[in-house]
Formats: sequence, structure tokens, C-alpha cells
Amino acid sequence: MEPTTSRGCMGVGAVSSTHHARSSSVIGLTIIKPSSKQLSSLLVAVAAVMLVLLAGVAHGGRRLVASGSEDEPCKKMTVYYHDILYSGNNTANATSAAVTKPAAALSTAHSANGTFFGMLVVFDDLVTEEQALSSEPVARAQGFYFYDKKEQYNAWMAFSLVFNSTAYTGTLNLMGADLIAERTRDISVVGGTGDFFMARGVATLRTDSFEGLYYFRLQMDIKLYECYV
Ligand SMILES: *[C@@H]1O[C@H](CO)[C@@H](O)[C@H](O)[C@H]1NC(C)=O
Ligand SMILES: *[C@@H]1O[C@H](CO)[C@@H](O)[C@H](O)[C@H]1NC(C)=O
Ligand SMILES: *[C@@H]1O[C@H](CO)[C@@H](O)[C@H](O)[C@H]1NC(C)=O
Ligand SMILES: *[C@@H]1O[C@H](CO)[C@@H](O)[C@H](O)[C@H]1NC(C)=O
Repeated sequence: MEPTTSRGCMGVGAVSSTHHARSSSVIGLTIIKPSSKQLSSLLVAVAAVMLVLLAGVAHGGRRLVASGSEDEPCKKMTVYYHDILYSGNNTANATSAAVTKPAAALSTAHSANGTFFGMLVVFDDLVTEEQALSSEPVARAQGFYFYDKKEQYNAWMAFSLVFNSTAYTGTLNLMGADLIAERTRDISVVGGTGDFFMARGVATLRTDSFEGLYYFRLQMDIKLYECYV
């Protein structure tokens, strides 16, 4: 017999037989010495209890629906994010503002090459259903982004989509590298609350419009692969 095969077969046999012996002594069942039939009904009972416990964990009786395929998210939506940066004279209209003034030599405000390295922007941006700023509001995007590359225009962001409409209430929390040079880039949906309880997924961002230094719009394709329903 070929050594590896025989070792493999023996290994499997040995594991299953010693496993029974060990687990009975480990969980203190040596005294009772249950038959294998009793053991299997015990296992069935334990499994049933665990299922009940898991169901109990589901929030408000909701159940986890996990997608089995990248092409079949359990929920998806396309929304538009509008960032109107404070320019110095748009106080009423602005929904975001730079909150840092990085070291002079590295900042756009002071240097020529436009990478904005070190600038942190805090936002409470409108998110709409369609491209137009005036279209149906869906949520607010509340969080921050910062420019994180000296050589290139590149950002990192983290924010919550705060939903408070008849369609949805709750939040989705997103974060990740916003590789601006890429036509589309994916950031993670790391969690959610309310109607998006414990949600996870991916949001694909695309710069949909860029108007000067003070306005840009992102298209966000959000796909959730774990939903509680
Ligand atoms: C507001 O500021 C922007 C950017 O600095 C400038 O282009 C624009 O002319 C200003 N508008 C008014 C009304 O001052
Ligand atoms: C607010 O900013 C947006 C984006 O730059 C612009 O389209 C809109 O006209 C501005 N609204 C007002 C009232 O200034
Ligand atoms: C921007 O400036 C940084 C720091 O001086 C430099 O390393 C980088 O090559 C510059 N990038 C461009 C696109 O000019
Ligand atoms: C959500 O909407 C309701 C009704 O318009 C409002 O009373 C409430 O303050 C809103 N909550 C948040 C967090 O914006």
C-alpha cells in the first residue's frame, strides 16, 4: 500500500474512533457511557437548542440572509452623493468644510501640485436618488475624507449614510480607500443599524461630476451581501 494513502485512511479511522472516546470523557459522559444512539440524539438536541438561540439573536425576529454569489446581493441601491465644499463665501450652501490646514509645503493652498495632502474634510452631504442635487433626497452622508498621498490626488473616507425617510430609517456605515485615479473604486460597507441592521457589503464609487474645487458628485452603487430581513 502506498504510505500516504494508508496513513490517510488510518488517520481518518483513528480520528473518528478516538474522537468519540475523548469527547465522552472530556464532557464528563464516561460515567453515563451513552450508546452511540443516545449520543446522536443528544447532538440533535444540542443542535436544535443552538438553532433556537441563533434565531433569538436575530434582531426583532429578523433572520440573516447571506448572498451566495457576487452577482446576487441581498439588497442593492444606486444613489448620488453631493459634496459642496465651503469656499469662503457659500456659508448657506456648503455641506462640507476643510478642518485642517496642513503643513505649508505639502498643502495645495500653499503648494503648486494639487494633491491636497493632509487636508481633512468633514461633511454632512446630501444623498439623492437621481443625479440632480434637487432630486429626491435619500439620506445624509455624514463623515469625513482626507487626502492621503503626496504624489497624487488620492483620498480615504469613512461615513454613515443616515436614512430617515418613509422608505428607510437607520444607517449604513462605509469606509475605505478612495483611489481617485481609478474610474471606479470599491469601499466597504462595514455595518448598519435600523433597517440595515448588521448589513455588510461593498459600495462602488464613480466620480460623476467635478465642478471646480468646490463641488463634486459621486455615484454610489451599494450592494449588500449580508442582510437581516
Ligand atoms: C466666491 O468664492 C469663489 C471661490 O473663491 C469665487 O470664485 C467667487 O467669485 C466668489 N463669489 C462671490 C459672489 O464672491
Ligand atoms: C449650491 O451649490 C451647488 C453646487 O455647486 C450649486 O449647483 C447650487 O447652485 C448652489 N446653490 C446656491 C443656492 O448657491
Ligand atoms: C507633488 O509634490 C510631491 C512633494 O513635493 C512630489 O513628490 C510629487 O511628485 C508631486 N506630484 C506631482 C504630480 O507633481
Ligand atoms: C427624522 O424625521 C423625523 C420626521 O421628519 C424628524 O422628526 C426627526 O427629527 C428626524 N430624525 C433625524 C435624526 O433627523
